[in-house]
Amino acid sequence: MINKIKNIIKKKNKSKIVSLTAYSKSIAKILDKHCDIVLVGDSMANVLYGHKNTHKINLENIIQHTKSVKMGIKKSLLVVDLPKGTYKNAKTAEKNAKLVCKKTGCDAVKLESYKNNFRIIKKLVKKKIPVMGHIGYTPQFKKKFKIEGQKKSEIKKLLNEARLIEKAGAFSIVLECISSKAARIITNNVNIPTIGIGSSTNCDGQILVTDDMLGISGFYPKFVKKYANLNRIIEKAVKKYTREVKLKKFPTNKNIF
Ligand code: KIV
Repeated sequence: MINKIKNIIKKKNKSKIVSLTAYSKSIAKILDKHCDIVLVGDSMANVLYGHKNTHKINLENIIQHTKSVKMGIKKSLLVVDLPKGTYKNAKTAEKNAKLVCKKTGCDAVKLESYKNNFRIIKKLVKKKIPVMGHIGYTPQFKKKFKIEGQKKSEIKKLLNEARLIEKAGAFSIVLECISSKAARIITNNVNIPTIGIGSSTNCDGQILVTDDMLGISGFYPKFVKKYANLNRIIEKAVKKYTREVKLKKFPTNKNIF
């Protein structure tokens, strides 16, 4: 686990870090061949469970899906989101992060930045739990979506947050929906890799929600590039199946015993 983390850190200034999210073994198996990091994101709340935000996902949901994802992972770093409310203070964070690691065999946890919670990162790292930070748009704590780092004062605040997270011992930081200028300044001023989502190429790596980039989630903001339109492909297949069942063209002799 430590070596996997060291390899991610070593990529800074050398090669871009590729990351995507997974919530199940079948997707994880595909991602594992190509990605450096696979994240079991709390975005599963919206994507899988149909909630309006990420708040209703609990530790049990995250553990369940991570167990499935873990079965598909051989080489990439497996990072797991700690759900909202599971790292309110250092004691709760330690208990919950240990539980997630023990039950799933993940490599690291991710937590969103809020007030002074870099102190929680410090505590977890001290207990040998690798942590990924997350700044900018942090859906667990911010009600309204807004691109951050457009004003000088915002860039200063974000840079300070990133530095505190680095100092606390995190091995990398997600920069979500911040300006390209802010991403460049942060990436050039911390020694740990920055992983961007909606934050330009001025980051050490990129992450997207897999269901978004595959065109299956129905959520396509500007920062998402649809690399496939799986909705269309699935719909076509389901239509064909429906037609064949109705016309008694399926199953054929090939499909029966
Ligand atoms: O939950 C998630 O999928 C995330 C990524 C968007 C970074 O946190």
